Amino acid sequence: MKKYLLILVAVLFTLGARAQKFDQLAKTPPMGWNSWNKFHCDVSESLIMQAADALVSTGMKEAGYEYIVIDDCWQVSRDENGEIVVDKERFPHGMKYVADYVHSKGLKFGIYSSAGTVTCQRRPGGFGHEYQDARTYARYGVDYLKYDWCGSTTQDARSSYTNMMNALYAAGRPIVFSICEWGTSKPWEWAGNVGHLWRTTGDISDNWNSMIDIFARQKDLARYAGPGKWNDPDMLEVGNGGMTTEEYRTHFSLWCMLASPLMAGNDLQNMTPEIKSILLNKEMIAIDQDSLGQQATCYRDNGDYQIWVKSLSNNEKAVCLLNKSDEKKSILVDFSLLASIRSRGRGFGGPPAGVTPGAGMPGMPQAGQGMPGMPGAQGPAAGQRPQVAANAQRAQGAPAARQGMPGAMGPGGAGGQRVFTPLTLENFKVRDVWEHKDLVLKETSMYVEMLPHSVKLYRFVRK
Ligand code: GLA
Repeated sequence: MKKYLLILVAVLFTLGARAQKFDQLAKTPPMGWNSWNKFHCDVSESLIMQAADALVSTGMKEAGYEYIVIDDCWQVSRDENGEIVVDKERFPHGMKYVADYVHSKGLKFGIYSSAGTVTCQRRPGGFGHEYQDARTYARYGVDYLKYDWCGSTTQDARSSYTNMMNALYAAGRPIVFSICEWGTSKPWEWAGNVGHLWRTTGDISDNWNSMIDIFARQKDLARYAGPGKWNDPDMLEVGNGGMTTEEYRTHFSLWCMLASPLMAGNDLQNMTPEIKSILLNKEMIAIDQDSLGQQATCYRDNGDYQIWVKSLSNNEKAVCLLNKSDEKKSILVDFSLLASIRSRGRGFGGPPAGVTPGAGMPGMPQAGQGMPGMPGAQGPAAGQRPQVAANAQRAQGAPAARQGMPGAMGPGGAGGQRVFTPLTLENFKVRDVWEHKDLVLKETSMYVEMLPHSVKLYRFVRK
């Protein structure tokens, strides 16, 4: 009996030792294109090859988009050996042919299946065929697998996705593993060791309410994201026609602030110049792709009006002002106070210089000051002040033990003392990421006009 127990432990240990994800992948959020949002089941060899061509000819590849992912509906059945069967009418040369073409363009190739018995469009899912499918994908030359949750009935999410992770690892081809479980089992709590990205919500639709609702649901998830493990608020709808250009600019900006995967979901061959200027805004993309890998946190929420902060490498940061309301707003922004704030996610470090605990929220006026011309974004009412002060204190008074976090400090000083790089306008210039120019600040505070459903995106760049 003891002998059997020992063997069991040894077997479990060996399996455990091999159980891992490919850990050198997706060090920055994956970027690419996926067929679903625009084309749904209308996928084919020519569509995918044309998308690969367009990713190159539009300059998107050069801007960082690299994965071409076929979503649902490429598969029709399983053969007598359980092997997945590709839709021959739509993919007459098979999947390896498509993958080879995508690779010939210097791009990477992605495919889709589901952890359950069927996909969401009732094509065969992966359940019971994980190892076989993983070997097949490796043979095709797959670099990215989006794995859905349809047809899963009573399955346990964590063990189902871990099973597929092991299968991919055993097949030996490094594949980015995109978990699409819609946030049901709080994948952010377990998926960091299983996949490279995980959906946090149900599907996005091409309208403002859907997009902004999904954005709001990311608020408490920043601490789970980082290099190789990303919250995925779903693919981009930019360019699909259901939002205004301003709203698409907001959508793209918010996804970049969240360090989200950037999977375009539009018709790449027919993009207007406005849509191109959004998807190809390299300054915005650089904020998404920053090597620190920090997801933005909400610094200030006034309902209609919010301030989000994303720490960047080199002690820089991006600040996003969001006007969620249907009204145009004129907002008084204090740039010297914005310069001093930090995000609170993974990597949040010690106290920023220039802010006294209890002095109110940086970037916003003090209590009682009011905000001329700024409906819905007033300073805290007197009764709210203790709460605001407490928040400010909490945001600033991080324990010393966390002071080694990236983006918080300058080089270590004498006797192990670390020195804060002062975050002030003397050290930083302010770059408007959509206007593509540095702000000329005559005063540290300035009125900023914000259209309905719009953002202002500032990068604080070291001088
Ligand atoms: C689910 C996913 C979508 C898409 C469809 C395909 O709804 O969440 O992103 O993959 O399935 O059927």
